Amino acid sequence: MIISAKDRRRVARRRLPRWLFDYIDGGAGSEVTLRRNRAALERIGFVPMALRGAAAPVLGADVLGFDLDFPVILAPVGMAGLVSPAGEIAAAQAAATAGSAMWVSSFSLAGIEQIAARVDPARLGFQLYVFRDRAVTQDVLRRVWAVGIRTLVVTVDTPVTPLRERDARNGFRSATGISPRLAAQMLARPRWLYGAMRRSDRLVGNLVPYDMGANLFAQAASIGRAMDPTLDWDDMARLRAQWKGRLVIKGVLHPQDVARAATLGLDGVVLSNHGGRQLDGAISAIEALPACVDAARGRVEICVDGGFRSGGDLVRALALGASAVLIGRPWVYGLAAQGGQGVADVLASLRDGMRSTMTLLGAADLTSLRAMWPMCFQTSSIPTGGDGACVPDFRPAEATA
Ligand SMILES: Cc1cc2nc3c(=O)[nH]c(=O)nc-3n(C[C@H](O)[C@H](O)[C@H](O)COP(=O)(O)O)c2cc1C
Repeated sequence: MIISAKDRRRVARRRLPRWLFDYIDGGAGSEVTLRRNRAALERIGFVPMALRGAAAPVLGADVLGFDLDFPVILAPVGMAGLVSPAGEIAAAQAAATAGSAMWVSSFSLAGIEQIAARVDPARLGFQLYVFRDRAVTQDVLRRVWAVGIRTLVVTVDTPVTPLRERDARNGFRSATGISPRLAAQMLARPRWLYGAMRRSDRLVGNLVPYDMGANLFAQAASIGRAMDPTLDWDDMARLRAQWKGRLVIKGVLHPQDVARAATLGLDGVVLSNHGGRQLDGAISAIEALPACVDAARGRVEICVDGGFRSGGDLVRALALGASAVLIGRPWVYGLAAQGGQGVADVLASLRDGMRSTMTLLGAADLTSLRAMWPMCFQTSSIPTGGDGACVPDFRPAEATA
């Protein structure tokens, strides 16, 4: 029976070829940051307050123009459609139905035109990788605007792709075709293989017009080289001047970057270490959050991602000042396990978990939840920001203040 995020991951592991599961599941280097994302969340304890009339908490939020029934967004995940035919479309539809949204990866298998034809663009954002070839970047921007998407999310934590040990062992992203090892792993998953052979979308749809490889493996190998490692704040300023919709920067952790984004007039930031897939050893978004909230001074919306798996995790981030939380691997595992229904189930369980956690904690809505930090949380290691001090252990005197 599938009940938890762990169950979905287990089913995904059983269903997917090893190279594909490892590509999704793995992180950079020794996966220190991947583990840290979970550990940092688990270190934050709740100190609930009783009898506060929080039986039916209100979860809705307006974040970066998205009218969300609860503040969760599907994070951009490149090549997520590999786990299930037309998977990105099914996931985006599930998000829209749940009153959530999806920020589509530059590297989705379904082209942005295909997704926007099936899902209200008001429920979609687009994640942009800036390419060395700026003519390609400009064309992508034109296409995204043309389909009616108005929220652009520029990912900035990928100037290079570091070693991901699991991918290297499997030979994924170095092969430019199906190697015997990759083929053997696919043959070991006949059900997945059957679906893969019948599907028509076997390329990264958004890149098809730009001649970046004749098959998916060739595309995966060339993607890293195609991205512009010299991207800088001047480029962000130019993008700000050009993009008339909402502009968000994804993949920052430093308060000074948040302040700079605000000064440039960006609308939002996503505090993220890319799910532990880029700078191994980087801190987690939840640890960066308090100081970044201080730096933002209310000028930009702050979203977070990395390791969020339960309603309780969402509550921790929202209390510390995040406007919304992005989830990556959980929705892809839901898709692998049960298609679009799996994504719907992931979102429903996060929403239900968030609701019950808020009730048990004593938060009737997001504003009162925010006011409960740090009074109703206990941690000895999350900086409160500003002076860099650590949150003191829970003190009863504050609770009654
Ligand atoms: C398989 C995989 C592919 C990803 N591809 C992208 C991408 O194309 N663009 C991007 O900005 N982030 C990408 N990310 C990072 C996610 O957007 C997000 O930051 C991360 O998954 C959050 O951590 P979580 O998986 O623990 O929820 C990817 C993550 C995974 C797991």
